Amino acid sequence: MSFQIPRGTQDILPGEVEKWQFVENTARDLCRRYQYKEIRTPIFEHTELFARGVGESTDIVQKEMYTFQDRKGRSITLRPEGTASTVRAFVEKKLYANASQPTKLYYIGPMFRYERPQTGRYRQFVQFGIEALGSNDPAIDAEVISLAMNLYQTLGLKSLKLVINSLGDSESRKAHREALIAHFEPRIGEFCSDCQKRLQQNPLRILDCKKDRDHDLMGTAPSILEFLNEDSTLYFYKVQQYLTANGIEFEVDPGLVRGLDYYNHTAFEIMSNAEGFGAITTLCGGGRYNGLAQEIGGPETPGIGFALSIERLLAALEAEGIELPISAGVDCYIVTMGDQAKDRAVSLLNNMRNAGLVAEKDYEDKKMKAQFKAADRHQAKFVAVLGDDELANNVIAIKNMETGTQEEIALDQVITYLKQKTM
Ligand code: HAM
Repeated sequence: MSFQIPRGTQDILPGEVEKWQFVENTARDLCRRYQYKEIRTPIFEHTELFARGVGESTDIVQKEMYTFQDRKGRSITLRPEGTASTVRAFVEKKLYANASQPTKLYYIGPMFRYERPQTGRYRQFVQFGIEALGSNDPAIDAEVISLAMNLYQTLGLKSLKLVINSLGDSESRKAHREALIAHFEPRIGEFCSDCQKRLQQNPLRILDCKKDRDHDLMGTAPSILEFLNEDSTLYFYKVQQYLTANGIEFEVDPGLVRGLDYYNHTAFEIMSNAEGFGAITTLCGGGRYNGLAQEIGGPETPGIGFALSIERLLAALEAEGIELPISAGVDCYIVTMGDQAKDRAVSLLNNMRNAGLVAEKDYEDKKMKAQFKAADRHQAKFVAVLGDDELANNVIAIKNMETGTQEEIALDQVITYLKQKTM
């Protein structure tokens, strides 16, 4: 019997995994500079958290969750996203009581959605996300967006498009909601069954429907921007002003509707314009969710964040032909000749590693020529050749693989020599 990996999941093997590590390290370093601290929440939560947090009417909750009963009959869901869990932890662990606010958190980890797999869309994918809780300052909206743009730009991406919108505060949203219902209701029968449900639940989501995208009522639907009250308009204006001050270009798209229910005020997405990137162009999505903490039983707390998947980021890098600066090579590969040399190489290798060098040797009793081949495969900067003769004289031959030159070094000096040359 043979087994295959489940649909929509990936094995990330050596050779590929270094790219993931590089991207994750870059993200962690950025978070350190922007003062976002890591939070690790469980991979599964009580289903109710996502039903309330992400929203009953969303595609995620209605059709994409991996939900099961545990042995005590409790309904458990593999997390489809990180915001609800982060806000749950913020509320449960009373992070709002800390003296230092806003609470700025980040996470990197697997998320699960039962979607139709295709390029850039997986059933298990890794999100890097940040959440800033406790501030209503539009400057933090600009900070959150800047961090996302900074990550992409640091990694070398150029073909990026940032789209922003405001969904307004609850008063503005209410007015817009009524206008949307009035607009769609008389002809809602011409729309898909999902949209018919959305009409009362969350008519904004009708604008996001893929099936009814070309219906003539879509283009003439009332824009949220016409319904923003003074406070919301001013807030949105300030966010734009701060983005411009940070040197970030953006487009305002009143049609940008995010697929999760918790958003208000700022919503944004970052897309890739790169040729050949494929049908799914959204790299990153986020926005403000001022009511969410309260919705899941906490104090009224403003919040904003984003999430992006490493899968789509790597695909965008590939589409733009960007190679990450990953060095996979070893500093020194030890080649031995003769039994005594082979024994001596064990502790020499250990000492090299303890000294901070990246070092490797043969474990398959290969002939010398094959050991040199292995050194090449390990992209060795230096090869240390140790034979029984060298050992008798307490020396070792060091070959510089780049220049081809060879030197004889005293055995007790070899680590100092290699460290000088490689570190
Ligand atoms: P989202 O738009 O559902 O938002 O997902 C954010 C990002 O996760 C997407 O832009 C995409 O990069 C990635 N993503 C989503 N689904 C998949 C998939 N099936 N395969 C690969 N990548 C995927 C959220 O999740 C919100 N929690 C974002 C947020 C944080 N809003 C505020 N704070």
